[in-house]
Order: sequence, then C-alpha cells, then structure tokens
Amino acid sequence: MIDKLVMATNNANKLREAREILAPLGIEVISQKEAGADIEADEIGDSFEENAVIKAQSVYDIVGLPVIADDSGLCVDALDGRPGVHSARYAPKGKECDKLLEEMKDVPEDERSARFECWLVYMDYDSIEVVTGSCEGRIGFEKRGENGFGYDPVFISGERTLAEMSADEKNAISHRGAAMRALYDLLKERYGE
Ligand code: IMP
Repeated sequence: MIDKLVMATNNANKLREAREILAPLGIEVISQKEAGADIEADEIGDSFEENAVIKAQSVYDIVGLPVIADDSGLCVDALDGRPGVHSARYAPKGKECDKLLEEMKDVPEDERSARFECWLVYMDYDSIEVVTGSCEGRIGFEKRGENGFGYDPVFISGERTLAEMSADEKNAISHRGAAMRALYDLLKERYGE
C-alpha cells in the first residue's frame, strides 16, 4: 500500500476534496508545495488528458513520489465543445460567466446543454493510470449563487446552479468528485487489503 500521494495542484479546494475522498484508504494527500515542488506547469496540451499528464509528470520529476493531477473544463454543445481545454483562459478570471452568457445570448433554452469534464491522472515509478468524470447540465441565462468558482454561477444541474449548492452537494455530482471516486476505486483495488 502507498501511504502518501502528492497532488499536483496549488488549489486548496481540490486538495481538501482529494483528502476527504482518499482518507478511508489511509492515504495522506499532500500538496505539491508541501512536497517541495513550487511550480506552475504549462497547460500546453491539446486535450484534458494530455494536460493532466503534463502536470503529473512535471511534479513527479521533482518529488519522486506517487502523484495525482487533474485537468478539467466546460464543454458547451452549442459552441462545439468550447471553451473545453481552454476553459481557464477563455476570459480573465471572474469574467468567464459574463463572456459565456454574452456569447450564448441568442441560443434557445433547449440548445444550451453542456458538461464539465475532469481527467485525473495517477503516476508512480512504473505506471500511469487515467480516470475520468463528467457532470451533465445546461447553461442558464443569468448568474445565480455565490458559492464555487469559475463557471459555477451559470451551470445548472437540475434546478440549481452549482454556485447555489454547498460544497458537499456539488462534490456529490461534480465531474471532479466522480473522477476522485473512480480513483478511490482504482487505488482500493490495487492496494486494498
Ligand atoms: P483546471 O482543471 O484547474 O485547469 O481548470 C480549468 C478551468 O475550468 C477552471 O479555471 C474553470 O474555469 C473551469 N472549471 C473546472 N472545474 C470547474 C468547476 O467545478 N466549476 C466551475 N468551473 C470549473
């Protein structure tokens, strides 16, 4: 069994989520910074998977411990899957919802389907494993809610936006939550008693 994993992120929310989900396996999750990798990997790949592997590899090369890394984004059907792998660079931080609403102002209700996708990579000295998760929903016509980040205020799942949900409610349905649970299953199968 491994007892320690490094998460290739500087995002405290992602770290907390990974800690909560993997804790029952007795695996301690530490941040890349705690492990001595104070870097920001370039997201230069053409796919979520490629970017997640780039992030994992750049941290693994420094720390030499098992690493997990994720890459995620929003794929809107009416925009042929954009912003997709470019979600983080679609607009200045804090302006992504406004830009998306403007770009979609003439798209009718029944053509506003979208999904968040998450690709999560596990890397150690002799293996790379990839798991995924997605979250289906639609883009609203206005921003609603104060929680979360990024596109959460305009992404509707059921009746509410992700920004109107608590962190626990969002984790239960989110792309990243799903990918994390898939990783839990994979590690349990590999290392569980
Ligand atoms: P990354 O996986 O941290 O590189 O995230 C890529 C971008 O996708 C973020 O900057 C957000 O704009 C968007 N994104 C990813 N996951 C979420 C989410 O759960 N809610 C809202 N936006 C998200």
